[in-house]
Amino acid sequence: MRYSYDIIEKVRMRNDIVDVISSYVQLKRKGNSYFGLCPFHNEKSPSFSVSHGKQMYYCFGCGSGGNVYTFLMEYENCSFQEAVKVLSGKAGIKLPEIEYSQETKELNERKTLLLEINKQAAKYFYCKLRTPGGTAAMAYLKRRGLSDETIRIFGLGYSDKYNNDLYKFLKKKGYSDELLKDSGLFNVDEKRGMYDKFWKRVIYPIMDVNNRVIGFGGRVMGDIKPKYLNSPETKIFDKSKNLYGLNSARTSRRRNLIICEGYMDVISMYQAGFTNAVASMGTALTSQQVRLLKRYTDEVLLIYDSDEAGVKAVLRAIPMLKSVGLATKVVNLRPYNDPDELIQKEGTDALKERLERAENSFLFEVRILKKNYDIMDPQGRTNFFHEVAKKLLKFEDEIERNSYLETVSRLYHIQADMLKNLVHKLALKKIELLVQPKPRIFAKQIQKQGNDIDKAQKLMMTWVTNYPEILRELKNYLKPEDFTTPLYRQVAKMVEEQFLAGEVSPARIINHFEDSEQQRAVAALFHTQIFLKTEKERKKALQDVLYNMKDSSIAYRLSRLDPTDLMGLQHLMEEKKKLETLKESGFTEKIYL
Ligand code: GTP
Ligand code: MN
Repeated sequence: MRYSYDIIEKVRMRNDIVDVISSYVQLKRKGNSYFGLCPFHNEKSPSFSVSHGKQMYYCFGCGSGGNVYTFLMEYENCSFQEAVKVLSGKAGIKLPEIEYSQETKELNERKTLLLEINKQAAKYFYCKLRTPGGTAAMAYLKRRGLSDETIRIFGLGYSDKYNNDLYKFLKKKGYSDELLKDSGLFNVDEKRGMYDKFWKRVIYPIMDVNNRVIGFGGRVMGDIKPKYLNSPETKIFDKSKNLYGLNSARTSRRRNLIICEGYMDVISMYQAGFTNAVASMGTALTSQQVRLLKRYTDEVLLIYDSDEAGVKAVLRAIPMLKSVGLATKVVNLRPYNDPDELIQKEGTDALKERLERAENSFLFEVRILKKNYDIMDPQGRTNFFHEVAKKLLKFEDEIERNSYLETVSRLYHIQADMLKNLVHKLALKKIELLVQPKPRIFAKQIQKQGNDIDKAQKLMMTWVTNYPEILRELKNYLKPEDFTTPLYRQVAKMVEEQFLAGEVSPARIINHFEDSEQQRAVAALFHTQIFLKTEKERKKALQDVLYNMKDSSIAYRLSRLDPTDLMGLQHLMEEKKKLETLKESGFTEKIYL
């Protein structure tokens, strides 16, 4: 089903990345690169860079990056195949027709049928709600304050008290048992055969962003447990990749999106005029959902339950949202538990006010953090501010960091200069840690130091692609196998192959990955920030990183060695000895940066 690699590469080479991105983003030349304001997150000073040489872009603010295909996929929200199509059009290259494999064809046909079944079921439930059998359900929804129009807009329905009604209905339409089983709408057991999963429940159809019904939630009308039944995962329903209500919220044209927990919250807020709410359907926010949100907005308001679980969920969601560059605020609902309840008890204006007063997510985190410390105790106070300083350190933009620093010092009564010193001290320590060689890394420590190793590997990859000529020497010491993350190892192999073939091209490597998440991870590999200015510093750091990587790679392989493999052990020991000798003789002398 894929285009040939040659075609993909031909199209990529005929579309200069600077030209393509310039048509979307205003770029200014600075040395070898072009800079502009990142289109993927909100920023005031440009950290979005486009390299003509590498034919790649990378944002030092939010970490998005890749080649010209990645850019189009992210910007236009399209698939790899679509990006190839658009760019081939621009370059005037005719694409061959894609041949789908038999397997893909069958899967697509199956998905089409399952969507059709869901659509039929949704219609069926919708009609049931309006029959005499649905009177109680309709009354329930009215009692919860929903208007006829709201009920219609969300396509709410009812599954009646007979447990094989829908089954009979769909059988009459000619669908096979085998297919119906896959729809997730039925339970199967040996005695009773197939019967409806939902009965005597109010039905909330779940739609994807293209308004296709992909699953259902069903609520009991009383206090019976479980309160909700949801469709299981099917070939068309993946809870972790969808958000309830996004199909309509994305067209609301508000400047932000509201994330809440439940179906009823989305519906109730919609009716109150807040048409930009989506729900995570009771599970923890996933990274796919976060990426999905990022396509439609730059700012989200979290409005989760006020209980402990809700706070936990918020604390977990904030860094995820931040990592893709989404500005985040947290709405306080207390004393109410969910937005629906707030609206019922205090009305629309009260919710509006709460949304306006939403707390900046960083300040929320600090406020919650404070609860862990006894601020009246000198030690508690010290520990608290150390943690705050650590958090402040994560801001890369100096202006941003300083303004947070000032707000925090005002709110928590500490002199801004003092806090600034603390942050500065921590920053120095962090740099030392990164470039200092770790003399010994034992297998057990690997996990703990995984982060440093990950950084070292990224740094190495960036060096290698910035200065491919160092590979001439480096390849005598470092092998792709020394990269312990599978993705990095794969990329290292490709870099090695390219080097041997005479040209290292990171943008071409990215073509091998069709998934934009992977493309972005690979791009990050080529764009570690190197803040070392002099050649001496760089040499020292390269030596340290090389030693570090090699040493941890040996330890890693040692930890996975079959204990009876004496040959293997001996081999690793030799490698280790060689490494130590190399280090003593200053093995980067020959490498010029
Ligand atoms: P109401 O009680 O009708 O106001 O529903 P709610 O939307 O406020 O539900 P709640 O806040 O209790 O839960 C949030 C979301 O979690 C729901 O919308 C469901 O998606 C999910 N959920 C809640 N209870 C259950 C349950 O018993 N089983 C399953 N599978 N999901 C549930
Ligand atoms: Mn509720």
